[in-house]
Amino acid sequence: MATIDVRSDTVTRPTPAMLSAMMAARVGDDVYGEDENVNALQQKAAAMFGMEAGLFCPSGTMTNQIAIKLHTQPGDEVICDELAHTYLYEGGGIAFHSGASVRTLRGANGRFTAEHVRDNVNRRDDAHLPWTRLVAVENTVNKGGGCCWDLDELRRIRTTCDELGLALHLDGARLWNALVARGESPRDHGAIFHTISICLSKGLGAPTGSLLLGSREHIGRAHRLRKLMGGGMRQAGYIAAAGLYALENHVDRLGADHAKSRHVADELRTVPYIASVLPVETNIVIFHLADGLSTEAYLRHLAERGIRAGSMGRQTIRFVFHLDVSDEQVDALLSAVRAFH
Ligand SMILES: Cc1ncc(COP(=O)(O)O)c(C=O)c1O
Repeated sequence: MATIDVRSDTVTRPTPAMLSAMMAARVGDDVYGEDENVNALQQKAAAMFGMEAGLFCPSGTMTNQIAIKLHTQPGDEVICDELAHTYLYEGGGIAFHSGASVRTLRGANGRFTAEHVRDNVNRRDDAHLPWTRLVAVENTVNKGGGCCWDLDELRRIRTTCDELGLALHLDGARLWNALVARGESPRDHGAIFHTISICLSKGLGAPTGSLLLGSREHIGRAHRLRKLMGGGMRQAGYIAAAGLYALENHVDRLGADHAKSRHVADELRTVPYIASVLPVETNIVIFHLADGLSTEAYLRHLAERGIRAGSMGRQTIRFVFHLDVSDEQVDALLSAVRAFH
């Protein structure tokens, strides 16, 4: 039985065309700055966002944590939503790498407002308080069901950060999905944030790799932090070539993943044992089972039908659509969902 894997959009494998691009890469030692594909990828991504420079790293966790370290000193505080990946799912990296504390906000499925930020910034004239230094935003919000931020709210948050002397970082692991869903451009976001992390290994389908974008000064310091964290890669051009291929070929097709999510969510809303489905904007569908149903039994039911799905908490199931899920697999997934009693 072929497996249908909707645990995450990170499970994709390179397409034959992407593999060819990887195999054709001419590589050099990137720690010396000599890999032409890595250099091209960094320059291309920075130019797309209208930012000065980029740094290719092994993972989105690394680009986020480097950014947080760039903007903070030990004892400072970071503001983010309580659903933020940087806070929940990066191994306690904010404490470990940066020695910073975190003030979590309760936004709407992971999206807070400029007023929330203003209300949660600590006064600097009170020695008891950690200094608030950084606001971190996630777009799309993974745990918020892949929802997108409103661009005007992001601009208001930037204005507030400027007034209060705060840095603003974007965890854009799935920013590509937001850009396609909202019809926005990378430059819209590049103009708002001091640093941006973008991933090539989620919906874009590259095997690994993320980029940190920012000013020349930030990226210069980030280069040293990447080495310090053990993320200096040598002949990284093979995976950079996959990233270049993904940027050129796999952005526009994200709309097809979003259509699958919307279709599945519409069907889930008609299923009696499903209590609620989060609003769907991109490639993630999060839904809640009715009281009394076991998450484990539900995932087992799907697994017995060749479907690998994930849980995001008690009675909370997540399906993520990506380029390795076909229309036929969506139909099979829905049949398995309907067969649960
Ligand atoms: C929103 C978000 N940010 C960051 C990451 C981290 O990316 P990586 O798995 O490349 O470390 C993920 C991973 O799924 C994510 O969903």
